[in-house]
Amino acid sequence: MPEQTIGIAGIGCSVPSTVLTNDDLEKLVDTSDEWIRTRTGIQTRHVLGKDETLLDLAVEASRRALEDAGVTAEQITDIRVGVNSWFRFPSLATRLQEVLGALGSSASDVSAGCSGFIYGMEDAYNKLLIQKLQYHRDGVALVVGAEALSHITDWSDRNTCVLFGDGAGAVVLKATDRGAILATHTHADGRYGPMLYSDPVNGSQRGDNGEWFVRRESNWPFLHMQGRKVYPVAVETMVREVRAVIDKYNHAADEQIGIEDIGYIYPHQANLRIIESVAKRLKAPLDRVYTNGVVRYGNTSTASIPLGYCDNRDHFAGGGSTPRLEIDVAFGSGFASGAILRRVG
Ligand code: COA
Repeated sequence: MPEQTIGIAGIGCSVPSTVLTNDDLEKLVDTSDEWIRTRTGIQTRHVLGKDETLLDLAVEASRRALEDAGVTAEQITDIRVGVNSWFRFPSLATRLQEVLGALGSSASDVSAGCSGFIYGMEDAYNKLLIQKLQYHRDGVALVVGAEALSHITDWSDRNTCVLFGDGAGAVVLKATDRGAILATHTHADGRYGPMLYSDPVNGSQRGDNGEWFVRRESNWPFLHMQGRKVYPVAVETMVREVRAVIDKYNHAADEQIGIEDIGYIYPHQANLRIIESVAKRLKAPLDRVYTNGVVRYGNTSTASIPLGYCDNRDHFAGGGSTPRLEIDVAFGSGFASGAILRRVG
């Protein structure tokens, strides 16, 4: 294995306290708990309350990650936030920077669909490497995936409203002995844009008059998806990304690894059936694949992979005992996709 030291030194997450069950959704649209469970695996999702904001989630997750890594906000040199539900400027990353007091850092958002966290990790990692190799400086990056998808969901569209949830996950990337990033790979195919996009149309949205769900004319872009068409491309692309990141690592490493050497996979949590199909195609045993997130949180887009780290916190915290190789893999609008090969412990 090549010597690498930049890795995940701390993790933190935050989900809103309000939980929407499948039974709750039965009261909103023509659906059923049975349909949602069998088609998606989703049982609950968390949504922002009317006094909570996406920034609140991002701040809480980030503070937890900083504390976990034992670094202060002043030490951060770079902030990258993967987000699809912040339709304004300045960026969510700069708002986060101000609240945290990380004023010595650069900060920007990453727009890459549900792969925004992976893209953010790749960018931040490459920057840290360049700083280290070229300028002999150790930087500290904060990489966040944060979403308020409930704000861009059309709550009258049963095709999409059952699928998504809100949440945020953050990691601190720096020189660490807790693990290392070994390889990253990203790709996009803009031809698929019309299958999964957001656009301002009328619909039913979370209200600003105190009601949870109201029907109103809206200038916010709603999310649209041709789920049946997206599904097979999602499976095929995630399988390809896993193989691509392993190939990339093997190209530069002395030792060759295969999928059988991967101890654990964190796939983007869009749909349990997609995850199961990816695992089957890779011949990866399902007990080595993270699936809990989609069941508990639904599809939280850029937040789904770091939320998985927090669900497996014991492993991250005690990573020293048994080193293992892990892969994160995501797919989303754009169709932007990506994967990261990491060593934990
Ligand atoms: N409750 C009940 N029925 C629903 C429903 C709901 N919430 N949503 C859709 N249906 C209906 C459809 O209208 C359709 O009815 P019809 O045959 O009369 O037209 C029927 O269920 C079957 O729809 P279909 O699209 O074949 O279902 P599916 O098995 O493909 O599952 C998805 C739908 C959305 C769950 C699935 O396609 C999927 O997960 N796609 C990937 C989407 C995704 O996660 N993308 C994000 C990538 S980041």
